[in-house]
Amino acid sequence: LFFLLCNTGLFTSVFSQTFTNSLAIPSVLTGTNINLSIHTGTVSFYPGFNTNTIGFNAYNYLGPTLMLNKGDSVHINVSNTMADTTTVHWHGMHVSPSNDGGPHTVIPPGTTWSPKFKVRDDAAMYWYHSHLHMLTAEQVTKGEAGLVIVKDPIEAALTLPRNYGTDDIPLVVQTRAFDAAKQFDAMSAIDSVILINGTKDAFVNLPAQVVRLRLINAATMRLFNFGFSNNATFYQIGTDGGLLAAPVSMTRLRLAPGERAEVLLDLTGMQGQTIYLTNYGSQLPNGYYGAPNPAAMGFATIPGYSSNGLNGTDKNLMQINVAAPTASPVTTIPSSLTVVTPIPQSAANFTRTKTFAPKTMGGGAGLNGPFVINGQSFDMMVINDTVPFNNVEIWNLTNNTAIAHPFHIHDVQFYIIDINGVAPPANMAGRKDVVVVPSQQTVRFIAKFENFADPMMPYMYHCHMLAHEDDGMMGQFLVYDYFAGIKENTYNAVFAKAYPNPADISWSIIVEDVNLVKTVELSNAIGQKVESVKIVTNYDGTISIQNGNLPTGVYYLKISTVSGTATLKLIKN
Ligand code: C2O
Ligand code: CU
Ligand code: CU
Repeated sequence: LFFLLCNTGLFTSVFSQTFTNSLAIPSVLTGTNINLSIHTGTVSFYPGFNTNTIGFNAYNYLGPTLMLNKGDSVHINVSNTMADTTTVHWHGMHVSPSNDGGPHTVIPPGTTWSPKFKVRDDAAMYWYHSHLHMLTAEQVTKGEAGLVIVKDPIEAALTLPRNYGTDDIPLVVQTRAFDAAKQFDAMSAIDSVILINGTKDAFVNLPAQVVRLRLINAATMRLFNFGFSNNATFYQIGTDGGLLAAPVSMTRLRLAPGERAEVLLDLTGMQGQTIYLTNYGSQLPNGYYGAPNPAAMGFATIPGYSSNGLNGTDKNLMQINVAAPTASPVTTIPSSLTVVTPIPQSAANFTRTKTFAPKTMGGGAGLNGPFVINGQSFDMMVINDTVPFNNVEIWNLTNNTAIAHPFHIHDVQFYIIDINGVAPPANMAGRKDVVVVPSQQTVRFIAKFENFADPMMPYMYHCHMLAHEDDGMMGQFLVYDYFAGIKENTYNAVFAKAYPNPADISWSIIVEDVNLVKTVELSNAIGQKVESVKIVTNYDGTISIQNGNLPTGVYYLKISTVSGTATLKLIKN
């Protein structure tokens, strides 16, 4: 403890860092029709300098927080007013491939992309960011990112702080490198400037009660080892994709790029005190970017690595001034939160193996990359994996490189089975979409690839260190429905699926969002409308065709929604 306090004091005095800027809290957009406009701008992070940035709506850097309710059907218009192409990906959210915003869904300059999807995710914090092929680091560095907070009834029933901006605080933690002209340098390893919600040298006033901090590591490369300068115990209540079963107490929390965590911090009785959110880089084990040595034991370090003042050192990130409590403060830490039901290993019907390696051996064991997955660099034209629709899969990730990589997959939330043979710690036992695979270790997770299939549009998996991703440490997979005869997403991402198909008696139809359905029509193989069936929209979100005595043969079901149509080929035995 003495050592830590000493270090913190040292850095405070050596750099005489003062936290003079009030933390920005991104404004909130709610509802089911959301407009996002991406634009370039400038921000004066340093007096007298204008840094070129990218922001959404009123912001020149980052964007508003989308606050969505689970179960809602949302229409989002994403307008690109920049001179460059971009994409916007909903990181962590379970949406169909064409709504996912990966590198294939480009938004050319002057155009608008309009994804429409139902929010199926559990209450947690997700985020949106550029995913443009080879330019993700560049665009995200400039600010093309924002938060998504999903609410659901389970979370709403708990006694938790949820006054956004008062006792429920989003913290987008980033490090940035600036060049001499105070422009962002996305490729520099000297990312020693800390931005929180885009605020440099930030302070925040928090009430003397239990507060909820929603942390996201939105840095491009660096891992953080969070703690508080008073060594306070805090409680992690949520992971990337949902609440934990119960709060997990801790004094340090490691987050890799892309990862999120919700924590409760009890400031009761501390009015008038000042503490700091601190990054304990000296305590990050070697082998992680941000540790004293980014390379695991036995490997040389990255040249110039130690000239970044953040690497391997402890540094305060943000000042917290404890203020008076609010009118009805939360003062307790709940004892339990939700029921977490990991998918049992016995449910898996396939194991997929991914091995990370330097692209070329030699030259310092390729510490700087590029890195490959199963020997391949990302290629827009190559589908690396085809996952059968509804498969439950174990992914076996082995890291044969000298440094740890945070692996992220789209479409699913997964459960970690083990990290080098050891079950995950309690704070990682919930729903996750990023997992760190340490050097020379193997991580296994299990996930179900349900609800969405598309024979044409892939999802991505990749390292979330954005330079690694842009350098090709990424692959793409189709979720393929081998039982569907025709392409299902016939227009603008209207997803529909019939089962069983062929059918003996009747079909059930799953539609992306049954609430958006306008008409459903059944016709026979020669296009004549079939009047004899009863088409019923069910409360569970499905459509059923009660077809009684329909003759054997081929039929087409045309589903029209507010956003387009889907045509399903149905076969009656
Ligand atoms: Cu956060 Cu594929 O991305
Ligand atoms: Cu993602
Ligand atoms: Cu990596």
